[in-house]
Amino acid sequence: MLLVAGARPNFMKVKPVLDALENRGVDCKLVHTGQHYDAKLSQVFFDELDIRPADEYLDVGSGSHAEQTAAVMIAFEKVVERETPDAVVVVGDVNSTLACSIVGAKAGVMVTHVEAGLRSRDWSMPEEINRVATDRVSDLLLAPSPDGVANLEAEGFPAEKIRLVGNVMIDTLLSNVDRARARPVLGELGLTRKAFGLVTLHRPANVDDPDDLGQLIDALGTIAADCPLVFPAHPRTVHQLEAVDIPAGITITDPFGYLDFVALQDAAALVLTDSGGVQEETTVLGTPCLTLRDNTERPITITEGTNTVVGRDPEVIVREARIRLNDGWPVRRPDLWDGKAGDRCATAIIETLEARATESKAFE
Ligand code: UD1
Ligand code: UDP
Repeated sequence: MLLVAGARPNFMKVKPVLDALENRGVDCKLVHTGQHYDAKLSQVFFDELDIRPADEYLDVGSGSHAEQTAAVMIAFEKVVERETPDAVVVVGDVNSTLACSIVGAKAGVMVTHVEAGLRSRDWSMPEEINRVATDRVSDLLLAPSPDGVANLEAEGFPAEKIRLVGNVMIDTLLSNVDRARARPVLGELGLTRKAFGLVTLHRPANVDDPDDLGQLIDALGTIAADCPLVFPAHPRTVHQLEAVDIPAGITITDPFGYLDFVALQDAAALVLTDSGGVQEETTVLGTPCLTLRDNTERPITITEGTNTVVGRDPEVIVREARIRLNDGWPVRRPDLWDGKAGDRCATAIIETLEARATESKAFE
């Protein structure tokens, strides 16, 4: 079986699935597409989460959507031809997810999508195209939350293809949160628990246009006058920030490793982000989160979590930040975000493979 990971948010998702499958004796190969390649977006997760080195490294690197997706498809097809896997497992919604699901489906291999069914209904997001197209070609759809199941049912997928398994990213969070809390990162940055905010921004709609990014940074500057902000900048954002004046109170850093970033999410008074995974992790950590987007594909983080979608209007962002900074939040955990989602994925994959084997025997 081939498991695929390519970009930062894939590594912490693939780890619990890989472990659970290997614990059941399934022969797995881990394929790293190389979509993300900087040590701080890739190797650090292998080191900190004790993920064994990838069995295949496709080394595709950066490029336009077509270039990157095509490069993954060309390289992954060779791996599939050589390895003749019984299944391909993809996670999340990045270009590597889509590319490998299409290759697997066209090779007639059973494709499983972990994190199926999430929908922002915003077609300007490349990830929405990746989510919908990946689900379309997948044989087994493993949803993290009931809204995912409902979306898939509404799109006409048969019930036997869909399983509600919970959130694999939260498996990794729960098994590492104690180690994260023991990190000295707060002291190193001169921060006090619950007296700072944490920012991440990397969506093209927020960072690719310098004027739009400048407006968001101005809003962050107003918030930072009351509450210092730490902003680990994604490479996509670093480049754009060069053209923007950074207000006092905002500290731009390199991306953090997983453990330090979890420690910061846990200790922050407020998180401001456009990340998908950060909306989920802050919900489980009980840290208020403002999502600087017009929508979310993770509505359960609003209805059962700490997330508020605030859009991009600077006045609204500042107003909501002031409200959240003075709020108390209970730690709430959606059903099946319990640290056992990887196990449920493994069960679903193994059962589906067995059912398909029985079916094909019946046809012989
Ligand atoms: C990708 C995903 C996005 C995900 C994000 C997580 C797609 C379409 N986008 O966005 O869904 O939320 O990862 O972080 O798959 N770069 C480096 N070093 C690296 C990787 C990238 O410097 O290791 C720079 C390159 O200039 C590259 C740019 O970042 O062109 C964007 O990288 P890319 O993988 O295309 O998209 P992300 O914005 O990272
Ligand atoms: N993350 C990290 N260091 C950082 C920023 C994020 O380790 O500096 C982790 C974060 O804890 C979460 C994942 O990266 O597990 C989220 O990835 P990202 O925001 O890049 O992608 P998205 O979830 O938006 O697709």
